Amino acid sequence: MPPPEFEMIQNINIDMQATEIAYAKINLALHVRSRRPDGYHALESLFVFAQDGDRLDGRVTESGAVTLHTDGPFGTEITEDADNLVVKAAAALRSYLGESRGAALRLTKNLPVASGIGGGSADTAATLRLLMRLWDAKIERAKLEELALTIGSDVPACLASTTRLVRGRGELLEDHDLPELAGAPLLLVNPGVALSTGRVFAGWDGMDRGALVADNLKELCVGGRNDLEPAARREAPVIADVLTRLAQCQGQFLSRMSGSGATCFALFETEDTMRAAAQALRAEYPIWWIMETRIRTA
Ligand code: C5P
Repeated sequence: MPPPEFEMIQNINIDMQATEIAYAKINLALHVRSRRPDGYHALESLFVFAQDGDRLDGRVTESGAVTLHTDGPFGTEITEDADNLVVKAAAALRSYLGESRGAALRLTKNLPVASGIGGGSADTAATLRLLMRLWDAKIERAKLEELALTIGSDVPACLASTTRLVRGRGELLEDHDLPELAGAPLLLVNPGVALSTGRVFAGWDGMDRGALVADNLKELCVGGRNDLEPAARREAPVIADVLTRLAQCQGQFLSRMSGSGATCFALFETEDTMRAAAQALRAEYPIWWIMETRIRTA
């Protein structure tokens, strides 16, 4: 007889009914305009998503409980208890719906934790999408975005995971089409440092450096910034090395830090130049986390 824990994990690994990908989020530019009275910051940001990310599998259980099992390269870095954003999102949705059933969830954590590419937010959004499918729930988009915002500022944008201009605290979403970006080869690089979003925001110097204009790629590349970069670099000086190295890569046309860091990205003209850059960086910096992907086309 296997011990009961063994049996439980076996059960989780079989018979999953649905899967959602929690697409990595990238801020191609992030302008911080002001500190708000509620402690959050007013942003203007262009969000895009990678076609890859964490993976969430799940099935309905009749018990009423929501259980989470984590695996994957970064699975050991997050908890499986009520503090986990996936568990919080599931509890919030279940109580909103008055749902009596539960779910067994498995999160395969491929993205580094606390790294500026929305892992936690994307996982939360994927949880809401997956459980709505499993529980056969229908919620108006505005209501779902409202619920998502109670869990985190980036979660509403992660629900659809399409290119958006994001304002406010993260909840004002506007579809944004930059056709040149669709499917663009994208390299994500994290030097192995986890940063606290709250700490990085708190380190912003309070200076409004102007609006984000992103009507075309040139404006985004030349006039776009990540205003959290100086504060993130103070926490993790290695970010400067990542950015310098990415700027030297042949074929890249935009490199910057994403979110509150420490992950930086580079967009490439061709897949070949992106691959060559990834290969060179892996050889030079074996401890850096490097992901080759593309911008997701909805
Ligand atoms: O909303 P979320 O919990 O993801 O945000 C984490 C922290 O990041 C907040 O507690 C806040 O300190 C900071 N933040 C901010 N302004 C935003 C979003 C996040 O100051 N627009």
